[in-house]
Amino acid sequence: MEGNRVRETFLSFFEERGHKRVPSSSLIPPAESGLLLANAGMNQFIPYFLGQAPAPFPRATTVQKCFRANDIDNVGHTARHLTMFEMLGNFSFGDYFKADSCAWGLELITQVYGIDIDRIWTSVYETDDEAIGIWQDLGIPAGRIVRRGKADNYWSTHTAGPGGPSSEIFVDRGPEYGPEGGPEADEDRFMEVWNHVFMQDLVDADENVLGELPAKNIDTGASVERLATVLNDLDSFFETDLMRPLLEIAESMSGRKHGADERVDVSLKVIAEHGRSTTFLIADGVQPSNEGRGYILRRMLRRVVSHAKRLGIEGAVMPALVETTVALMGDAYPELRENQAFVLQVAAGEEERFAATLRQGMQIFGRALDATPAGGTLASGDAFKLFDTFGFPAQLTEELAAEAGRTVDMDGFAELMQEQRARARANAKKVPIGLDAAAAPPGEFVGYDRLESEVSLVGLLDPDYGELEAAEEGEQVRVFLDVTPFYAEGGGQVGDQGVIRTSGGLITVTDTQRIGDHAFMHTGVVASGEVRQGERAHAQVDIARREATARAHTSTHIVHWTMKHLLGEHARQAGSLVAPGRLRFDFPNPGAVPTEVLQEAEIQANALLARDDDIKIFETSMDEAKALGAVALFGEKYGDTVRVVEVGDYSRELCGGTHVARTGNVALIRILHEGSIGAGMRRVEALVGPDALRQINVERALLHDLVEALGSKDPQAATERARQLVERTKRLESELGKLRKGDRDAVIGELAARATKVGDVALVVSEIPGEDADGLRELAQSLRQLLEKDGSAAVVLGNGDGGKALLVAAATKSLVDRGVTAPLLLEGAAKRIGGGAGGKPILGFAGGKNAEGLAAALEGIPGRLSELLEGA
Ligand code: SER
Repeated sequence: MEGNRVRETFLSFFEERGHKRVPSSSLIPPAESGLLLANAGMNQFIPYFLGQAPAPFPRATTVQKCFRANDIDNVGHTARHLTMFEMLGNFSFGDYFKADSCAWGLELITQVYGIDIDRIWTSVYETDDEAIGIWQDLGIPAGRIVRRGKADNYWSTHTAGPGGPSSEIFVDRGPEYGPEGGPEADEDRFMEVWNHVFMQDLVDADENVLGELPAKNIDTGASVERLATVLNDLDSFFETDLMRPLLEIAESMSGRKHGADERVDVSLKVIAEHGRSTTFLIADGVQPSNEGRGYILRRMLRRVVSHAKRLGIEGAVMPALVETTVALMGDAYPELRENQAFVLQVAAGEEERFAATLRQGMQIFGRALDATPAGGTLASGDAFKLFDTFGFPAQLTEELAAEAGRTVDMDGFAELMQEQRARARANAKKVPIGLDAAAAPPGEFVGYDRLESEVSLVGLLDPDYGELEAAEEGEQVRVFLDVTPFYAEGGGQVGDQGVIRTSGGLITVTDTQRIGDHAFMHTGVVASGEVRQGERAHAQVDIARREATARAHTSTHIVHWTMKHLLGEHARQAGSLVAPGRLRFDFPNPGAVPTEVLQEAEIQANALLARDDDIKIFETSMDEAKALGAVALFGEKYGDTVRVVEVGDYSRELCGGTHVARTGNVALIRILHEGSIGAGMRRVEALVGPDALRQINVERALLHDLVEALGSKDPQAATERARQLVERTKRLESELGKLRKGDRDAVIGELAARATKVGDVALVVSEIPGEDADGLRELAQSLRQLLEKDGSAAVVLGNGDGGKALLVAAATKSLVDRGVTAPLLLEGAAKRIGGGAGGKPILGFAGGKNAEGLAAALEGIPGRLSELLEGA
């Protein structure tokens, strides 16, 4: 049975039984799920299980894209592990329960998929007598029902949420796959094909039961891949029609066949499996990066490249893998087809870059190997550098070292990794090194509504975070306030500036940062008087700057909306900078944004400003925000209250930033440019409000100056005039070149005629004013060429133009062969002009500040040449 039919059969079976067919959700789960990637069909239904939202239908069936990053390292080594797989499921939201779910499960497996009931085993949670009774009634003998503990037969996502005991269905694949004895004895022979979870509990992340769910639910999961393997009686999923073509790509590119050598098999399978999974990840919007999902993707693409290398594949493998995955799965997952060009670009770009890094890394590895005696241990620092700078998975370094008869200090490597993680954590939290974040005095932000406030200096530190009692004029300080109107940098928006005034002193604040979740640090300098720890003060934000920043923030939301509107949903903001009067934001897009689209975006954004819509800001639950379609950009957690910024009736984003009250306040958005910042990532920059206007004035002045410089009165005619001028210049230059060539030929002839002989060597020494270094070099080379015909020759030319002396020497190859090089010839002369000589044997230079010494320098050349010839 083809994979596509396995999938369709399941879904129609449950559709016929009153289940609503719901499309797979994205591999990128909503932030509130606390999950990095979708890991089960039930993910998208969590709010219904928890009773946080009413289920729109009592029963559902899906095929869900799932990803289990924990299994990356198992891929290729076992028959059953995959990173991305398709999970079929049926769901009941407080509707039917155990008995129906088990009965339908067995009916589908035995009567529709046609597996003999004698081959079926089931497992139940250790205390679930009810489930045992149900299976027995359905005809499974007690001897083929096993009770198992929590590790096997209790299921949750391992984040706080719904959970429940489960019951699995296994198919006996026959004695050729392993020993008798049921799933307890061998899970390769007795392969689990379907898990039925009886969702009834509310659990914490460690699966401690906290209470009951409002209703009893069903959540089941069956992998398409395993069903296809079992139904077609294949050794592994890699032989099914859903995966075999991908394996064949790896086979044909490497010229190796699967099944001959275990190590080769692992590489072939990794290439095939990761090629498929990464295609799905990118199609859902994951971009290679150094953290979270992006890092999983990057790691997998790198594994593909290093395994391809191990198999001796020269060219790129990802393009063929992406194309084949789309061909195999594009009908079931249209997003693959829609995003094919984008996926290709991202995957191929990352592959190309890593392949280049790998080549560089191999050189470093080679050096590390040379420094380690055979049988010795490679230093952990080398392994770490290979990982950190060149992206070599430690495993790869270990394998390469083993092939060369060395080991790697993996303990040391683990320690270095640990240190790096600690550094990364400190950076991620933006807690400055040296500051004890936990001890930072807490504060409250009141600056959404107010730009000034009466405050207390609850903490006063020096620039190195040492505590201060007091600070006086000129001293740099870091100040913590109990309440602050200053916005701390966050969500792309820069920190506020302003002043803090005490009874005896004034602090100018240049930046505000949030420390941990609770504290606000103001960085600045005591501008006058003295300030003391604990004092009362008046804090005042720089209003003009804050307003200019608010204009930029609202504009960012508008430009973001416009870009998505024109380019598609994929153009989601991936990072931004919101500063006074200007903004910048990054988003994925397969190629450059055409100028017309950028112009259209600018027009549309300004048209939206002209509507002068209200900006509404409100707090709500994550659920409510999602229902409103708010775009979440940051990692809010489930249950949090979130802040929604709504511009007009079109843009809704979760955002903690500061905004203008009406879009009309922005007045103007001017998009400056758009460019690439890496594979598939674009960056747009814009100016807003008065800053946009100032920019227009700058452009206008530039145009005016240009028109004037071109000597044209009419700006309309300026372009034509510039074109004419460029053409005319080209024509004149070429004519002039011909003329000068005639002149130069005459000069060269004259100089050659003045050549003297030193021994058998022809020598030309002359001062040539009015030539720069290039001009002198050309002359010297032409002279050498001319003189060379009659034997060895040397040329030294120079001038003292502009108060600086310059010397160029050329020597024929035959002279150099006798040990007389151009730099040697210039050695003494260089000293006389107050410099040093350098260059190549046949062409040397010297330059110095002493132009007066030039004459003496040139005079000394014949003597120097004869000296060198005698020495030779
Ligand atoms: N959520 C369960 C699983 O993933 C059943 O769908 O196994």
